[in-house]
Parts: sequence; C-alpha cells; structure tokens
Amino acid sequence: MDTILQTIDLRKSYKIGKIENPVLHGISLEIKKGEFVAIMGPSGCGKSTLLHLLGGLLSPTSGNIIIDGEDLARVSDAQRTDIRRRKIGFVFQRFNLFPTLTAEGNLKLAEKIHTGNGGSDGVNRREVLRLLKLDDKMHHKPLELSGGEQQRVALARAVVNNPAIILADEPTGNLDTENSEIVLNMFSELNRKFNQTIIMITHNPEAAAVCSRIVRMRDGLVVDN
Ligand SMILES: Nc1ncnc2c1ncn2[C@@H]1O[C@H](COP(=O)(O)OP(=O)(O)OP(=O)(O)O)[C@@H](O)[C@H]1O
Ligand SMILES: [Mg+2]
Repeated sequence: MDTILQTIDLRKSYKIGKIENPVLHGISLEIKKGEFVAIMGPSGCGKSTLLHLLGGLLSPTSGNIIIDGEDLARVSDAQRTDIRRRKIGFVFQRFNLFPTLTAEGNLKLAEKIHTGNGGSDGVNRREVLRLLKLDDKMHHKPLELSGGEQQRVALARAVVNNPAIILADEPTGNLDTENSEIVLNMFSELNRKFNQTIIMITHNPEAAAVCSRIVRMRDGLVVDN
C-alpha cells in the first residue's frame, strides 16, 4: 500500500509570552492510503495539536509533514492552503458551522471554496446528506439542529468534496449512542467504498474498535501504533 501521509520527527511548541511550551516531542508516523486510524491518549497529550499540524492548520516548530509526496513544512502558505483544499476534509472538535447558513448552505460554501467558484452539480452533496440522514434537515440553520445533527452537518461538509484524507477531532465526543453510530457508520462506509484515509481522535474505545489501527499518544509522543 502507498504511504499517503508521513511525519518525521515532528515537534511543536506553543509560545506563551516569552515562554516556549513544548507539546509534541518528535512524532514519526506513517499512514498508508485507505487506513482508518484512531488516535487515543489522555487529555492534553497533544492529539488535537498533531491533527491541526497534519491538516496544515498549524505550522510545526520543526520536522516534516509529507502528504502525497509534498512536504507541508517546505511549501509556501499559499501552496499549503491549496493542498489542504484539494486533499483534506477536517471535522473540528467544535462544529464551526456558519450560523447564518442552512445545512445545505454550509455544504455549498465548502464546495465553492473547493472549486474556487465553479460550484458543483450537487450529486455528491445529495448523496452525503442522504448517507448522514440529513435529507429533511438541509434547510435548517445550525441553531435549528440538535447537537448530533450539527455534528453530522460538520461531517457532511468535511466529506462533500471527496477529500483523500479526512481528519476528525473527536467526531463522536458530544454525541449520544445513536448519533455516534450514524457518524461511525458513515466513516466506515466512506473508508470502504472510496478508500478514503481517515484519522480520527477519540476517547471512546467503541469508536476506536471500528478502526483498522490505533495510534496511542502520551505526553507529546506516540507510545504505540
Ligand atoms: N494555541 C495554544 N496555545 C498555547 N498552548 C496550547 C494551545 N493549544 C493547545 N495548547 C496546549 O497544548 C497541550 C496539548 O493540547 P491539545 O489540544 O493538543 O491536547 P489534546 O490531546 O487534544 O487534549 P483533549 O483530549 O483534551 O482534546 C495542552 O497542554 C494545551 O494547553
Ligand atoms: Mg483535543
């Protein structure tokens, strides 16, 4: 199998005032195309930091992040943004939906950002809304949706452009069992049908159990993978 994503000795410190606070101490990880990976570990160990780095949302202090042969740490900001738009779908720990847009509007905006204005025929959008059981909610704004439905819209938005890599930060963290199952089934189905590579942070052993691999972190390091 091809490697789709690799980090080499990845380090990240956050600066607070004049103090450097190291959070990741050298993460070397290789992920193959089509893997469905769970990242687990105690609160504060650096999971979200790692995911934001992988998604090009943060810059590393040192080390490499290679996506499909391109090193995110070596390219310009504009190129990094471009790689992110073409290849990555991100589901945040908080939903980050646009409150004034409907569920459908949030998806259309993501399509617009992806295509650079050309819009989309909407075939994939309708399929994704159907898969996530949101057909009858597409004209609702976020505040008119339950937490579980909002998370499903956030997930729909992340996958609507069919990214090669989906990064999800605790996508079932705030969901009840029923909604968690819908979301996990969606991930499994995408992974199986389209061979999408999925990297998902979770605290939930049941969610990790549907993954093909578990990466365990502690204190800014990978301790098992
Ligand atoms: N923007 C920031 N500025 C300064 N410190 C930060 C920032 N973001 C995170 N940190 C610190 O980095 C450490 C790791 O945070 P991170 O969010 O990566 O943890 P996590 O493993 O995702 O935890 P959780 O399971 O609670 O979400 C924490 O100690 C946190 O306080
Ligand atoms: Mg986190």
